[in-house]
Amino acid sequence: MREGSLLTVKNIHFRYPGNVQVLNGASFSAERGEVVAIIGSNGSGKTTLLLIAAGLLDPQNGLVLLGEKPLREQLPEARKKIGLVFQDPNDQLFNPTVYDEIAFTLRQLLSSEEEVERKVRQVAQKLKLGNLLARPPFKLSMGEKRRVTLASVLAYDPDILLLDEPTANLSVKYVEETEQVIMNAKNAGKAVVIASHDVEFVANVSDRVYIINEGSMQGGSNAKSILTDESMLKFADMRPPLVLQTLKVLRLESHDNPLTIKDLTEASNGNTHRKQRSSQTQRSKRR
Ligand SMILES: Nc1ncnc2c1ncn2[C@@H]1O[C@H](COP(=O)(O)OP(=O)(O)OP(=O)(O)O)[C@@H](O)[C@H]1O
Ligand SMILES: [Mg+2]
Repeated sequence: MREGSLLTVKNIHFRYPGNVQVLNGASFSAERGEVVAIIGSNGSGKTTLLLIAAGLLDPQNGLVLLGEKPLREQLPEARKKIGLVFQDPNDQLFNPTVYDEIAFTLRQLLSSEEEVERKVRQVAQKLKLGNLLARPPFKLSMGEKRRVTLASVLAYDPDILLLDEPTANLSVKYVEETEQVIMNAKNAGKAVVIASHDVEFVANVSDRVYIINEGSMQGGSNAKSILTDESMLKFADMRPPLVLQTLKVLRLESHDNPLTIKDLTEASNGNTHRKQRSSQTQRSKRR
């Protein structure tokens, strides 16, 4: 747990009616300008934890702090500071058109419809949703629905983004777009928390990674240390990123432990430069 985090979730115990105990002392934090991933197998409690972090479910024990103060004491105003994108877009979408969906929270925050329209068009352009604005959300494809729910949250510019399986159902172009949205949010000083099974995506975007297992959290350290640790990943029912697995099969393990194609390219460029430099040195020594 870190001091001064924007979002602090402390020692949460949570049980659904019917005695389904899900969380037994789960804790995590997220700072401004940080992307934190929560990984864990199906049913481990990721979604439950994000609903609690957003103040939509009350834990039996434990505390959610927004800044220094309990989130509960700051509701309902604090709702606009936290944007939760649900795992199932059908739980989130309820407006007659995509335009109204993106405009919904903006209409509560802004006084003029012109301002609302300007923001809706801005975010729709950013997420390439312009051609869907007049459509009823419930008739969209699953991937389109997910992109609309992300847009509806980005539109009101919350300080904290909680994204539950944000790459599910997305084709490559839109996974990359989501990664870009997350990087922009991080660079704008937002705290971003993602729950995900997608190890390549987690490797591409996260600064720190927590593993949720048997109701509590492990890890929380830098993404590289967690995503290269096969024994830790087993608790999350996940395999290491493909680049690492491939290097291992080919017995080309590198001390840089590249997690992504980008890391691998940088590492191999570094090696090429090192080789070039050392052969230049050899040549000049021979002269
Ligand atoms: N409304 C509910 N009532 C009772 N039990 C529930 C309810 N919602 C979830 N659960 C149970 O709580 C546990 C945690 O569910 P949760 O959806 O938080 O897991 P998850 O880690 O997000 O899973 P997934 O990877 O499948 O999204 C599961 O065992 C689930 O069956
Ligand atoms: Mg879930």
